[in-house]
Amino acid sequence: MTSPIDFNDRMLSLGLARVAEQAAIASADWVGRGNEKAADQAAVNAMREELNKLDISGVVVIGEGERDEAPMLYIGEEVGNGTGPGVDIALDPLEGTTLTAKDMPNALTVIAMGPRGTMLHAPDVYMDKLAIGPGYDAGVVSLDMTPTERVEALAKAKGCTPRDITVCILERPRHEDMIAEVRATGAGIRLITDGDVAGVMHCAEPDVTGIDMYMGQGGAPEGVLAAAALKCMGGQIFGRLLFRNDDERGRAAKAGITDLNKIYARDEMVTDNVIFAASGVTSGSLLPGIKREVGWLTVETLLMRSKTGSLRRMVYRNPTA
Ligand code: FBP
Repeated sequence: MTSPIDFNDRMLSLGLARVAEQAAIASADWVGRGNEKAADQAAVNAMREELNKLDISGVVVIGEGERDEAPMLYIGEEVGNGTGPGVDIALDPLEGTTLTAKDMPNALTVIAMGPRGTMLHAPDVYMDKLAIGPGYDAGVVSLDMTPTERVEALAKAKGCTPRDITVCILERPRHEDMIAEVRATGAGIRLITDGDVAGVMHCAEPDVTGIDMYMGQGGAPEGVLAAAALKCMGGQIFGRLLFRNDDERGRAAKAGITDLNKIYARDEMVTDNVIFAASGVTSGSLLPGIKREVGWLTVETLLMRSKTGSLRRMVYRNPTA
């Protein structure tokens, strides 16, 4: 009897970086072209093609949607060449389709991989999220606190006043009350129009990004990807799935979720070692965007392993045809 093949995260990580890189390169032609769909499709095609070259028996657990609504990289799709270990894949081939179409900051291609059965099968619903960077006691902030309590608790833990705290929030009408409440504490807010995976990741490097905390409602799949990133970078993230109707509750049931009110901590969304790769499509605080020069495209990728806490920045230059 053959034994199951180990998840060799060290060997697989460079392949994962290639997957993120190729998706970014494919979306390069669509930066600033006002066409979200085409940008996304280009990234999806490239990510899938590159993923299928890897020596893995992968299953997409966070993907482009349910099988009946996404022709490629749908939840449950088997990826890889089938010769390697069983792995879970979480991906967002283009996180920030509108950011790409409008050439606004922080569009990324994102992918994470862990051993089979180690990632939350989050349905495509919203998630209430709260994240902070590394170096704080467990549970210093919680989703059950009000926005004011979160800011005050973080300021106390950081040894500063709320005026020295900056919170990142998606600019949406649903967040108007939260934004007003956070502003009333004296804290600053970095409003983003899209891209909350990057929003959460910003908390892990506050000295670079100027952001201490992320809060608000965004996509649940993006929440799992952000948890994978913070598992590598350090930091805390909490998420609670939000259901607006029976269809969304049905999606949860299909994903095997029974406790609809559960608050998931980072290590409950991603329960084992994970590798994470993100490439910059448009420039942001974490990664430069794709650079075009005559005859060349350059893309930068952040590649991280939770097992070692290692972080690589890889610059890849590719001749254009
Ligand atoms: P897309 O790249 O799929 O457009 O998603 C961008 C995004 O901003 C996510 O980062 C975020 O989680 C979600 O959309 C927020 O959803 P909504 O736009 O419905 O508020």
